Amino acid sequence: MSNWGHKHIIDLSSFSFEDYKEVLELANRFKRLPQAGSRKLPALQGRLIATLFFEPSTRTRSSFELAAKKLSADVQSFSPSSSSLSKGETPLDTVMTYVAMGAEVLVIRHSSAGVPAQLAKYLDQKNKKVAILNGGDGLHSHPSQALLDLFTLTNYFDNVNNSPECLFGKTITIVGDILHSRVARSNLWSLTGCGANVILCGPKSLLPEDFVRFAKEPPSDQKDDPIIKRGDITICRSLKDSLKKTDALITLRLQKERMSENLISNLNSYHHEYGITHKKLEWCDKAIPVLHPGPVNRGIEMSSKLLEDSSICLVEEQVSNGIPIRMSLLYLLAATNTN
Ligand code: CP
Repeated sequence: MSNWGHKHIIDLSSFSFEDYKEVLELANRFKRLPQAGSRKLPALQGRLIATLFFEPSTRTRSSFELAAKKLSADVQSFSPSSSSLSKGETPLDTVMTYVAMGAEVLVIRHSSAGVPAQLAKYLDQKNKKVAILNGGDGLHSHPSQALLDLFTLTNYFDNVNNSPECLFGKTITIVGDILHSRVARSNLWSLTGCGANVILCGPKSLLPEDFVRFAKEPPSDQKDDPIIKRGDITICRSLKDSLKKTDALITLRLQKERMSENLISNLNSYHHEYGITHKKLEWCDKAIPVLHPGPVNRGIEMSSKLLEDSSICLVEEQVSNGIPIRMSLLYLLAATNTN
């Protein structure tokens, strides 16, 4: 019996442990379905899902569209460059156009933090049945990426049950450009929500000290934190010290397009200090998996050799896991939003 209570998915600060469990259990079931042929589940037959990406994407948009098709939904995508945005239409009017066409779930990516939340609020005020699923907004949140990262980690630590319980007490290091990363912010909610302790590692210019207070309180528009005891967040500037303590590593893309000033003096010295290579992984006291949300700047966050070593680097698995996770999210939003 589902206890799912979210009409929209904007970020993960409001997710309870049971929510994580439900999303992962469902994704696990979708993942284990036979892949051969063109088999589809009829779950969302006749329902319209629209992907409105006002910012570029390869993985998120494609995997939401594939996930929707695997559930037999009708899928409508939107390309900003060939849309009426170029004639001055606002994103709100674009959204209302897709709502008028009957879309029941809108997956929205926007470069400004808060746009999916504002749209959800507006649609609720208008009593529209449509659900908003945040596909990434500015520096704020990327919930489906954090959930597929969680799924990839639980799959690594507990391949049989794939349950978030296996993360309790584990140490996960996130290294790199945390300041500009909506993925890291969503990872912080989900990992600490499942009881993992997180080490944040990076230079001061990309990792301000106040990140240790992240997830200490829910956002101002949210009453309570549904998690009774979150894992800890600590900052460690030394990659070597972080790797000695960690059970898994998530490394992040340097988001040069979001840097308003030059925060990195030299890409070679960044790679030397924080780039992940086979040699640096020898500092770990055990074999660990390396994750990256993509797209990867080869030779900066990670060596090409490591990126292509699937015995350590789980990037391909993350991409594959994106489909069952997004099937799970679309199913929970569309199938439970039938009134
Ligand atoms: N990880 C991620 O969001 O990738 P895309 O920008 O390609 O969707």
